[in-house]
Amino acid sequence: PGSLPSGPDPATAVPNPAAAAPVRSGRRVVKIDIITIFPEYFSPLRVSLLGKAAERGIIEFAVHDLRSWAHDVHHSVDDAPFGGGPGMVMSPGPWGEALDAVLGTGSPGTRLILPTPSGVPFRQDMAAAYGRNARLVFACGRYEGIDARFGDEARTRVPVDEVSVGDYVLSGGEPAALVMIDAVCRLLPGVLGNAESAPDDSFGGGAGPMAGLLEGPVFTRPRVWRGREVPPILLSGDHAAIARWRRDEALRRTVACRPDLMAALPPDTLDGRDRQVLADAGFPLSGEDMAH
Ligand code: ADE
Repeated sequence: PGSLPSGPDPATAVPNPAAAAPVRSGRRVVKIDIITIFPEYFSPLRVSLLGKAAERGIIEFAVHDLRSWAHDVHHSVDDAPFGGGPGMVMSPGPWGEALDAVLGTGSPGTRLILPTPSGVPFRQDMAAAYGRNARLVFACGRYEGIDARFGDEARTRVPVDEVSVGDYVLSGGEPAALVMIDAVCRLLPGVLGNAESAPDDSFGGGAGPMAGLLEGPVFTRPRVWRGREVPPILLSGDHAAIARWRRDEALRRTVACRPDLMAALPPDTLDGRDRQVLADAGFPLSGEDMAH
């Protein structure tokens, strides 16, 4: 079912029962290959938004078990590090063969992503750019990482990015790949429903009034819950006042959680009320200029 083992690879395709369904002509499909020693780690791709997008043929996932390219009896994929040091390093052999098989004869529009805590920080703009590739290959390393020659050789064939999802160390590239895949896929046309809107998210990159700010708090029914009332302004029907309140809250949250983002806002995007809110929140403003 689903997508395509290539060569000796018994790819664990994430089931895609609607793959044969009619696909609107001209629609772009993004193919995502994942190479890992834990294929079962990627069962979340069948769930929720991404699962539905795969069923509808907007995204195609193929998960490949690295051990299919390990040829010794134990299917080993790692070895002791040259130069000494703790832990094990993933051998280039199986990785090279895996990439050969996954890339096949051609790789136009393909990008290889190596999740690693020593990579460049993953950001929303990268998620959007990745979604414009025809194909993304995630190579999930474990242990102390993959022999560096693998990435160097791959770079002669496809663009390669070493990417970190944050300043902390995970037990392997798998959870990082899931994070990036989710961020990429929800931006693809047709994946988010009408109810959701990517540009207004925190980091959504929209050019609107909330650009560069974190999203503030949100509320729904009931109007009073455990004695806590929804802010009355949200019930006022005064759209301008509500927009102003939302911006105030976004400014307060950004100051509290991400002063670095606040400091990066161009000062000329701040009006008098913004400056008042920031001053009340204790964010340093000097004269008419933001302090950096
Ligand atoms: N592998 C281990 N930690 C990681 C991180 N923070 N980002 C990406 N890949 C990783």
